[in-house]
Amino acid sequence: MSETTRTASRPPAARADGQLALLGGPRAVPKDSAGGVWPIVTEADEQAVLRVLRSGQLNAASPGEPEVGRLEASWAQATGVRHCVAVASGTAALHVALRACGIGPGDEVIVPALTMNATAHAVHAAGGTAVFADIEPDTYTYTMDPHSTAEAAGPRTAALLPVHLHGLPADMHALNRLAARLDVPVVEDAAQAHGTQLDGERAGALGTAGCFSLHPHKNLPTCGEGGLVTTDDDGLHEQLVRLRNFGELAPTGARTYISHRTALNARMAPVAAAFTRSQLARFHDDTRRREPGIRAFLDRLEQLPGLHVPRAPAGRTHSWHILRLMPEPEELGLDPEHRAGLRAALHRALRAEGVPVSQWQVAPLPAHPAFRPAGLSEDAALDRVAERFPVTADVVDGSLCLQRRHLDPDAGPLLQRYADAFEKVWQHFDLIRRMAGSRPAPGWREVLRRG
Ligand SMILES: Cc1ncc(COP(=O)(O)O)c(C=O)c1O
Repeated sequence: MSETTRTASRPPAARADGQLALLGGPRAVPKDSAGGVWPIVTEADEQAVLRVLRSGQLNAASPGEPEVGRLEASWAQATGVRHCVAVASGTAALHVALRACGIGPGDEVIVPALTMNATAHAVHAAGGTAVFADIEPDTYTYTMDPHSTAEAAGPRTAALLPVHLHGLPADMHALNRLAARLDVPVVEDAAQAHGTQLDGERAGALGTAGCFSLHPHKNLPTCGEGGLVTTDDDGLHEQLVRLRNFGELAPTGARTYISHRTALNARMAPVAAAFTRSQLARFHDDTRRREPGIRAFLDRLEQLPGLHVPRAPAGRTHSWHILRLMPEPEELGLDPEHRAGLRAALHRALRAEGVPVSQWQVAPLPAHPAFRPAGLSEDAALDRVAERFPVTADVVDGSLCLQRRHLDPDAGPLLQRYADAFEKVWQHFDLIRRMAGSRPAPGWREVLRRG
């Protein structure tokens, strides 16, 4: 048993009871608490980067450049697919995947209302239009709802783009069935879901193509920007290779610079590829070592009344990229209208204790000015979002997220201190309830109106 496993599952030595830090009491999480560094950069990672710098082959288009191809082969194997194409970012991965699937002007692509803006931007950059679906109600999975997706589908639907949000695979069985009925491809946004599985198959192997981000804060990071596209389809692979490099064919000798379709430069830097491949050597081990600390943390939080923690439904694994925590006002003696106030009160109290909770996405994506339908007043557009995407609206207003620090495989003890802080705050819930009820906090509409 590793050190992390032992310390993570051990009950906390001393509970941080007493006065809330918000009111001048001691922090539950001392400032000098160890752990919580991500990404971790080892000497092997540094050596991998140095190897490229010293090789002189600094660009993926350099003849014989080996690093990008090696990463592609390793990730294809790790994902269980035939092909992987490395690109410049997760957004570029989505963009080239959509274009390879034939998305262009006049096409609609269904994306979830709760995701990072990149998901919808990629659709528009490909020439299509993002059409939104709500996330699943009552499940705390936060992934695209197949029923809402079916309702959003129409004659122009040309692809589905589900997001494996926070590391949990979307309900791909239902979404793939819908896509088959509509006769459209499914592009997975697996930017947050490296290595996660549905019924034994990995994210990136669950649809027509899978798109990963290698942003330094992701579970599989790079030193800068990077992305990966996976597919089993030979024809799609050929298009992906062209689309990342000005529409040129995969070089078999000297580069000809002849473009076979219009495309930009979306190549990954060899330095980035070498760094990620070095990280990949310990990725599966890190994923396994991280699990007990996170589970022990969520087990403690789950005991707190009214707080809903993420769990993987049967058949799905979770890579815990982001931990989203949802307090339900009604279960905590508050009216639903105090949802944003409750989140804000908890945010203040927990941050004072030293827990770095944050809001990941402050508004449903279809409410962002860039993605609102033309011709509607702001009020009408926001009313429509509230009506069509009620689950997303409640989640952005009401939930808090933990990002990044829990990715350190040795963060188990730090997470136990976080759990101490939550328990301490819950012991003072009367105050939280009063703060939530008395102090109106801006919800997503106000945030958008303020710009
Ligand atoms: C769900 C989702 N999709 C797409 C992206 C875009 O990835 P990148 O930042 O690598 O372009 C991200 C990145 O944060 C993401 O979280």
